[in-house]
Amino acid sequence: MKYILILLFAAFVSNAQIQKEQLNLMPWPQNINLTAGTFALSKNFKVNITGNPNPRIFIGATRFLRRLDGRTGLFLEQSFLTKVNESPEAELQINCVRNGKIAINEDESYKLIIASDKITINATSDLGALHGLETLLQLLQNNSSSYYFPAVEITDSPRFTWRGLMIDGARHFQPVDVIKRNLDAMASMKMNVFHWHLVDDQGWRIEMKKHSKLTELASDGSYYTQEEIKNIVKYADERGILVIPEIDIPGHASALLTAYPEVGSKVSDGKVTYEVQRNSGIFNATLDPSNPKTYQLLSEIFDEVCPLFPGEYFHIGGDENNGKEWNANPKIQEFKKKYNLANNHDLQTYFNMQLIPMLKKHNKKMMGWEEIMTENMSKDAIIHAWRGTNEGLASGGSLIKAAKSGFNTVLSNGYYIDLMLGVEKHYLNDPIPKNSILTPDEKARILGGEAAMWSELATPSNIDSRIWPRTAAIAERLWSNENVTDMISLRKRLKTISFRLEELGITHLRNKEVILRNISNNQKIEALNDFSNVCEPLKNYTRNGGGKKYRMHSPLTLFADACTADALDVFDFDTAVKNYLENKSQENQILVTNFFRKWIAMNADLISLSANAPLVQPLLPLSKSLNDLSQQLLLIIENKQTVNPTILNDLLEQCNSKKNADVELAVYNSLKKLL
Ligand code: ACM
Repeated sequence: MKYILILLFAAFVSNAQIQKEQLNLMPWPQNINLTAGTFALSKNFKVNITGNPNPRIFIGATRFLRRLDGRTGLFLEQSFLTKVNESPEAELQINCVRNGKIAINEDESYKLIIASDKITINATSDLGALHGLETLLQLLQNNSSSYYFPAVEITDSPRFTWRGLMIDGARHFQPVDVIKRNLDAMASMKMNVFHWHLVDDQGWRIEMKKHSKLTELASDGSYYTQEEIKNIVKYADERGILVIPEIDIPGHASALLTAYPEVGSKVSDGKVTYEVQRNSGIFNATLDPSNPKTYQLLSEIFDEVCPLFPGEYFHIGGDENNGKEWNANPKIQEFKKKYNLANNHDLQTYFNMQLIPMLKKHNKKMMGWEEIMTENMSKDAIIHAWRGTNEGLASGGSLIKAAKSGFNTVLSNGYYIDLMLGVEKHYLNDPIPKNSILTPDEKARILGGEAAMWSELATPSNIDSRIWPRTAAIAERLWSNENVTDMISLRKRLKTISFRLEELGITHLRNKEVILRNISNNQKIEALNDFSNVCEPLKNYTRNGGGKKYRMHSPLTLFADACTADALDVFDFDTAVKNYLENKSQENQILVTNFFRKWIAMNADLISLSANAPLVQPLLPLSKSLNDLSQQLLLIIENKQTVNPTILNDLLEQCNSKKNADVELAVYNSLKKLL
């Protein structure tokens, strides 16, 4: 009897009614109603699908089973789902009313009900059902010996219809496996638009059968074949994701013009040439809008590229045309006069308008960066806000201007994850802030937002750690209720979400060790790891000042590439310092001084590693600064010694140096508070 009581108690404790706050859901659903009880997972757990879904749900449900397998080691008996109503007795019943369309404004809602003996997901479309499966996976709990789901009712749907991620495959080429694993991660965060930046000054990345010169002369052999593109589009479709290709014109055209210099705007008395750029930056190479051959070529390019992408939109870039080649070319200036085009912006609109019928021929509408927005632009175009903010017109809000002018619009300003800013900055950036000046109709034109991952400093080995986990926070901003803004909750949930991304092949955690092992020259990496947990890569594009330090073939395997935004120990140190300054208890003091001891030991270890690891040398000055200040702070805090303030300030400022190893000490602000 005693034994049974203990067992009952153990079961009660381990499966105790879970609280909402304990759930690691992301994006946070619209409505959660936890009820009593749990659903225990067993080996013969099965899924059954009813209704009229797109077959993508069978593949999706099969993937769901394999992910459950992977997590639990249960090796569920059900193998592959292939048709409706295969296992009418199954414990998980999914009903989809109709075939989901991969397009914006599609119904992505779902209702998930977990009871102790049965789980149901009801959705209008299979796209909603896929989201429901992701939520169900996030609900999985365990005790010491088994897995279960908490009883709950969730009704959920997205706040914004456009929840995107852009990946730049043009600067550093990102192979198919990088794209695929990121599509999986996007789907797990209920994101539905993959914007594929395929062409830029540094490379043309699309196989062209009729214009093979483009890849022969302007890709360095790194490009996506048309079969690979079709395969990725299908892969995205299976995950409920729309693919928007981008060919950036008329600027950003060095690669295109390397192959076809005759349609460039450069003036020359002899043969004009262009070259693929190896550096980062804004370049002059621009298509000639006055040359009929330009439009002939573009029309042929669209004829080949558009059919690869079934979606409704095609992104034509349009950003950062610096106008230098246009200004210098008398023929183009003549053309402007002839067509009454007051300035280069109007000339660019003229150019853009020629593209609209080329796209329309393939049932596509234009999308472009905010520079395409002028009075004469077709209102069918989507304006992609990147410089302009979500705030009032006075602060230059192109998103606001677009919505007010009758354009649909998508926000990327505030979601530039390559700036390497902390998660909070992106998370609290709302496309429609509470104080928005827009009318309901204008608000409805704000379709959502898109994280932008430019790849000047991103290779297949570090790109995942630049995208994740911060993009999960952006996904939540775009899906969840506007009032879901608690940073403590976000940070807590993000820890689990980040760990779960590994299940999908995302390398943001493991590649840190790969990079650090290389730096250590196959020695122990603990000290490097500790240091990487207080260092962050330089922000706001200061790492690659002038765009020439790192080129398109530079290996990005340095310490800064192992470091990430939101360095792991910073939040804990900040919290320890805050608590200590509020209450100098022995307990609070120890939490702070433990960090100092750790950093002093780390510095000694880095010095000894460096004896056989040249790549460690650049880290030593900053590590020494942290060591020196830590030693002084220990003397002050523990031994109550006074230290000359000038010396202390000098040591502190050395910790603020941004001159070493492309990183900054992210604990600087809290160190400063301690002084
Ligand atoms: C951009 O960042 N040039 C759109």
